[in-house]
Amino acid sequence: MTDTTFEPVRKVVTAIPGPKSQELMARYEKAVPKGITPGYASVAEFAEGAIIRDVDGNQLIDLGSGIGVTTLGHRHPKVVEAVKAQADQFLHMAAGITPYELYITVAEKLAANAPGDFAKKAFFMNSGAEAVENAVKIARAYTGKANVAVLDHSFHGRTNLTMAMNHKSVYATKMGPLAGSVHHAPNSYPYRDGLSGEEAAARTIEFLEKRIGAVDLAAVIAEPIQGEGGFIVAADGYYNKLIEWCHANDVLFVADEVQSGIARSGKFFASEYYGIEPDLITFAKGIADGMVLSGVLGRAEVMDAPLPGRLGGTYGGNPTALAAANAVIDAIHEENLCEEALRIEKGLRAFFEEQKTKTDVIGDIRGHGAMFAIEFVEAGTAETTKKPNTAAVKTIVDHAFANGVILLTCGSYGNVIRFLPSVTLTDEQLQDALSVIAEGIAKL
Ligand SMILES: Cc1ncc(COP(=O)(O)O)c(C=O)c1O
Repeated sequence: MTDTTFEPVRKVVTAIPGPKSQELMARYEKAVPKGITPGYASVAEFAEGAIIRDVDGNQLIDLGSGIGVTTLGHRHPKVVEAVKAQADQFLHMAAGITPYELYITVAEKLAANAPGDFAKKAFFMNSGAEAVENAVKIARAYTGKANVAVLDHSFHGRTNLTMAMNHKSVYATKMGPLAGSVHHAPNSYPYRDGLSGEEAAARTIEFLEKRIGAVDLAAVIAEPIQGEGGFIVAADGYYNKLIEWCHANDVLFVADEVQSGIARSGKFFASEYYGIEPDLITFAKGIADGMVLSGVLGRAEVMDAPLPGRLGGTYGGNPTALAAANAVIDAIHEENLCEEALRIEKGLRAFFEEQKTKTDVIGDIRGHGAMFAIEFVEAGTAETTKKPNTAAVKTIVDHAFANGVILLTCGSYGNVIRFLPSVTLTDEQLQDALSVIAEGIAKL
């Protein structure tokens, strides 16, 4: 029986990873392919809120939330209750065969929470990549055009189509041929390109016009805050100009909010930071607090373009996952969780602004809400060449892990530490984790 008595604090009781974790990892290596080797070798046994207890009894502060998934914390009571209640009702009901009310309710709630004063529809799949694939299908069906454009530093998934949509080649190495009709356009990366939103948009649009031509372009797919690419927040006005151009040219704008959506950024959808109204939005990760769910949401007339039978899949919109999503959406409002995300941003920003006065390896501090990141550069290059400092990131992340704090990295140059904690992370837990990170920074 798993011991579920739990004090929600960091505890280090063995070297991390401890002996039981090491034993299990030896089995893992024999049983699981190298392609999904974990970043951390501490094996989880129990989790609650922002704390994971491993099999050796260490309690780690989880600042990654299973890559931005458990936004409400591990096993949020309302989510657990909803899932259990649904399990007593039915576990599977292919909505394309036998519909059920929960499917409709969650679609309605998502539409009500998305930007844009127009009729919207939503449907459900299982993974972020599947959601992106479906958004592309819908955009092609609606416009009758084949080409799509993505932005530099983007990440959209690991399926065949989405492999072609990623900026970094490593996700597709030796796994081609990649899908065609996907074009990579320059993005807005204020820290590195120094361009205003208007200038960066002009550069993107020039590329789209020259390289593809609006007449052949179905959609631009972009992450409002670029996730894997380094939590890049576009310059003010960038997305507004880009959407303006899209709509003037019968091109759809798809916001991939798989990582940035569902209260993570301090808004229900991060698109709201720019005041944009995407035609389609993909969502996943935080929507069901760990249950398996993703989907596409968007303008009703666009969503209706694929004919009956052209969308869906056996498992898309599992009832227990939708029960979790229903509870997540309600909890976001009932518990003011967007405000909680902003509380976390405040704590992180204050800490790193102070650290920046003590070290010259912090190049950029950016993000929104509980989607926050630090870009590390070589000493003295923060304002000049901005040389990526991957060694600093490794030192800090290794120190954090050894001391019971799970930190994730990202960035096209591998030099960004990203914070994706649960928005229910307490101030005490955050400050404790930051004290460990301060020790890591002091080691540099
Ligand atoms: C913006 C974005 N899109 C798509 C995906 C792919 O999601 P999944 O891993 O669930 O397929 C991710 C995953 O990190 C993501 O961050």
